[in-house]
Amino acid sequence: MASLPAHIGAAPGNLPPNVCQLPRTGQLAALLTGLRNKETSRGAFVFYADRVNRLLVEEGLNHLPVLEKTVTTPTGLEYQGVDFEGKICGVSIMRAGESMEAGLRECCRAVRIGKILIQRDEETAQAKLFYAKLPDDIANRYCLLLDPMLATGGSAIKAIEVLLDHGVPQERIIFLNLVSCPEGLKAMYDAYPQVKIVTAWVDEALNEHKYIVPGLGDFGDRYFTSS
Ligand code: PRP
Ligand code: URA
Repeated sequence: MASLPAHIGAAPGNLPPNVCQLPRTGQLAALLTGLRNKETSRGAFVFYADRVNRLLVEEGLNHLPVLEKTVTTPTGLEYQGVDFEGKICGVSIMRAGESMEAGLRECCRAVRIGKILIQRDEETAQAKLFYAKLPDDIANRYCLLLDPMLATGGSAIKAIEVLLDHGVPQERIIFLNLVSCPEGLKAMYDAYPQVKIVTAWVDEALNEHKYIVPGLGDFGDRYFTSS
């Protein structure tokens, strides 16, 4: 395994127990470096983000429970294996969370996807809910909640409130996230300790504008609209 420079090689400890970080491999660190680089073009940013999103979805699926399932193989033998216990769906926090839908679809064909439009006020960083459209039977599904950035935690917490209002228990929500920070992770744990968080990278902190540092800027702008 390639070794990383000491200042990024060790993932932070002392995080809430509901947090799972992707292993800090050379590949992941290189993809994040590409995302953080302000010289990265939108096309390259999309490519790097999609790569990390795929890793996140794969890890998120590892947290879903399985049940024993016996099948018969072409050799006529019975094989005692497993299958996922329940149905799943994706829920993206618009706009940036929509960038993670393709990675989910690559792993879960024809997966149902709900949308929650939440926008952070640019001055106050307060999250505001505008719209939610979710699968009718969402209360019976495991939910992979998608948003690449976790800063104050306000947007993700509001999205979880919506899911709870629709009957989804905390234990069935897995939040998939690309870059987080200790402040947002703590806020999420304080509000909803049973929600599992799978994050690719935990950054250092928030700055005075409630942006993640070192961070990568405004994810939604860089993925969808920058030149
Ligand atoms: C960004 C990001 C998160 C939120 C994180 O979205 O995608 O949803 O900010 O910040 P928080 O943890 O402090 O709430 P934004 O509202 O800027 O909208 P966008 O997805 O359209 O870029
Ligand atoms: N939203 C982003 O896109 N980036 C941040 O650093 C914080 C919120």
